[in-house]
Amino acid sequence: MSAGSRAPLQLAILISGRGSNMAAIARACLAGLINARVNVVIADRPGVAGLSTARDLGIDAQTVSWQNAGDREAFERALSEAIDAHQPDLIVLAGFMRILSPQFAERYAGRMLNIHPSLLPKYRGLHTHRRALEASDAEHGASVHFVTAELDGGPVVLQSRVPVHPGDTESDLATRVQATEHIIYPRVIELLAQGRLAWDEGHVWLDGKPLDAPMVEDLSAHTRN
Ligand code: GRF
Repeated sequence: MSAGSRAPLQLAILISGRGSNMAAIARACLAGLINARVNVVIADRPGVAGLSTARDLGIDAQTVSWQNAGDREAFERALSEAIDAHQPDLIVLAGFMRILSPQFAERYAGRMLNIHPSLLPKYRGLHTHRRALEASDAEHGASVHFVTAELDGGPVVLQSRVPVHPGDTESDLATRVQATEHIIYPRVIELLAQGRLAWDEGHVWLDGKPLDAPMVEDLSAHTRN
């Protein structure tokens, strides 16, 4: 199949809150900027803002409640049923605040991406902006990576880099980094949709060559503050 006649990549996007990354990806799909379609948005709790944003964009938006599930196994079983019902090519974690089991990561190996608000491997886990400030880092950013069993540990495809300014608060830094997340996440999905980015047995390939180190973009010119 030639690049021009590729079928749109079918996406399932998982959220836990505001859903600004989900909205950026969905809008890029609707605008034809990426050859993909959001089949479903799934939240792990009811009533989060991202669900109504998704519905306003005409997307099927569902809740698979973590709280009602009982335990992680039951939650993940319900989650994969909801995902698989939509037959997505790619599962996109976008501010999804649940730690997934190695079995879940394995089930979707090579078909699941996450965005993390740090320059991985720095600051896996929570409070990344605070930790960058505490370390007096001169720069900070976000990383789009494939999900593996290791938390925030899968191969990174693309990073955005922004400066840390003197006097920045956590919220300043979060705003600056998030503006770049909305650029790099659609970009990585488009690389997959074009068939330029591929996963093979734990290794990432770009344009037929191994991607040995993440691509990095200085996006300071695109930040709002
Ligand atoms: C983003 O900063 C992302 O890096 C992190 O959670 C936040 C989600 O924001 N994983 P939103 O829900 O996409 O607005």
